[in-house]
Order: sequence, then structure tokens, then C-alpha cells
Amino acid sequence: RHVAVLMGGWSVEREVSLNSGEGCARALESVGYRVTRIDVKPDIGQVLTGLKPDVAFNALHGRFGEDGAIQGLLEILRIPYTHSGVLASALAMRKDRAKIVAAAAGVPVARGVTLSRFEAAKRHALQPPYVLKPVDEGSSVGVVIVKKDREHPPQEVAREDWPCGEMLLAESFIAGRELTCAVMGGKSLGVTEIQAATGVFYDYDAKYAKGGSIHICPAQILPKIYQQIEECALTAHQAIGCRGVSRSDFRYDDETDTLVWLEVNTQPGMTETSLVPELAAHAGLNFGELVKWMVEDASL
Ligand code: DAL
Ligand code: MG
Repeated sequence: RHVAVLMGGWSVEREVSLNSGEGCARALESVGYRVTRIDVKPDIGQVLTGLKPDVAFNALHGRFGEDGAIQGLLEILRIPYTHSGVLASALAMRKDRAKIVAAAAGVPVARGVTLSRFEAAKRHALQPPYVLKPVDEGSSVGVVIVKKDREHPPQEVAREDWPCGEMLLAESFIAGRELTCAVMGGKSLGVTEIQAATGVFYDYDAKYAKGGSIHICPAQILPKIYQQIEECALTAHQAIGCRGVSRSDFRYDDETDTLVWLEVNTQPGMTETSLVPELAAHAGLNFGELVKWMVEDASL
């Protein structure tokens, strides 16, 4: 079978996607697929029409790759693709709207408001500590944590060179631990705790710099909380209508026993050291087996 690995693109997560794509391409070759690596550009429709792959392995992250856009193109071209479809991708990408759907299904979420970046730079309902994040980006790009001792409201989000979109989500900051849970084919692969080496939060550098973070896999937390996280990740995956593999991110505060679901990533990082391959290994599946399952699960 001929698999086209879609990677790169032009979102702020381009570099991450190139790494995910290369990791997946190698793993796919190691289990016997014929692989074509495609650095996605706006001519992707013509490229795929000419190539006619059996399956598109989507290793894109962020805008156009994770938000339903490329998924819609693949539907039109009738090329089966990995991960979530159009609706789930579009919904999950909008963190504020995804929260509404997850909360309606019983998943605990943090209090929040959606506002433009200019509104966020004026006075608004939330008092520090809170988090401001673009409603539709990934990899923590554009995330601002407003602690008690910081300028409130923060002014950088109104800057002319703001790298992200116009809409932001302001959410109460939940102290404590950062946890993540991967879902594959309607089952949990387990829960990992992430500790940023700088002790602030799991920001872009902590995610991708060597030694930027420690993964504790499986997470060393109370079995009751571990299970609750798995249940919430499965519920969110189903309520939003995700397919294949997804990864839900959480925060848990031991002191107040507060668990909140932050978001589901429909195109989670897939480098060899990323969280999902690590959780798959914990569940007994190596990287080759994981990507093979994803190709076999691909559909329209
Ligand atoms: N957005 C990054 C790739 C992740 O969720 O893993
Ligand atoms: Mg994300």
C-alpha cells in the first residue's frame, strides 16, 4: 500500500509537524509501506490528485491541517485519511466550543470566557491567576499565564506582531499537575504526567527542547484520578466525534482535588519521543505497530 505522509504546512506548528511526519514516515517504512513524504503547500490538491495514494497519513498540526480544512479536501478527493474527520477536527480546534460539547457530556472544564485579543488587553471578568490562550492554536504558542504578581490585564496580546489569531480564551488557572491521556480506537492507552524542567508550565520550549520536560509514564497519581482522567478522555473523544488516535490534556490540583479537561488534540505530536508513541509503548505497542494501526483505521 502506498501511503502519503502529509507534513509541514504553514501553521505556527510547521516545525513540529515536520518532525512528526519524519518519525511516522520512518516507522511506516519499517513495517513495509511504500511511503511518499509530502511537505504540504497550498498546491496540495494538485499534488495528491497526481500521486493517487491509497491512504493519506496526516502528520500536520494546527491551522489547515488539524482544523477540518485538509480533511475536507481529502474527502473531496476520496482519499482515506488517518485521525479525525472534518467535524471533529474543526470542533476540537476551537478550544472554547469543544469545551461546551465536552462539558455537556459531563467532562469537568475550567471557567472561561472567549474574547478578542484587544478585549483581553482591557479589564475583563477573570481575575489572576488565569491563562490566556488562542482559541485555535497548538503547542502552547501564544499562551500567556497571568499570575497574581503580573501586569493585569497583559498588554502583549494587543501587540501588532501578535503571532496568533484574533480570538482568545481566558481560563481560570488550575495549579498543580499537567496530565495527558491518549485514546486509540475507543480505548485509553494510559495517562502521563508532564513536568516542565523550568517549573513554569509545559510551554513550547518545554515541549520540544532537549531536556525541556520529564514524562512520567504511567502517571504516579491516585488510581481513582487516573481512572477519572481516562474516562474523561474517552468521553471527550466520543462527544466531539474523534476517530483513530487523539490525546486529551488535563490539569489536576491535589490540594483542592480539582480535575479539569483542557482540550483534545486530534493531531497529537508523533515524533519518536512524543507522548502518544510513549503511551502506546506503555500499552504494549511499538511505533511501527501504532502507525500501522492508524493506516488500517484510516477512512473517509
Ligand atoms: N499540538 C501538539 C503537536 C500536540 O498536541 O502534541
Ligand atoms: Mg493542543
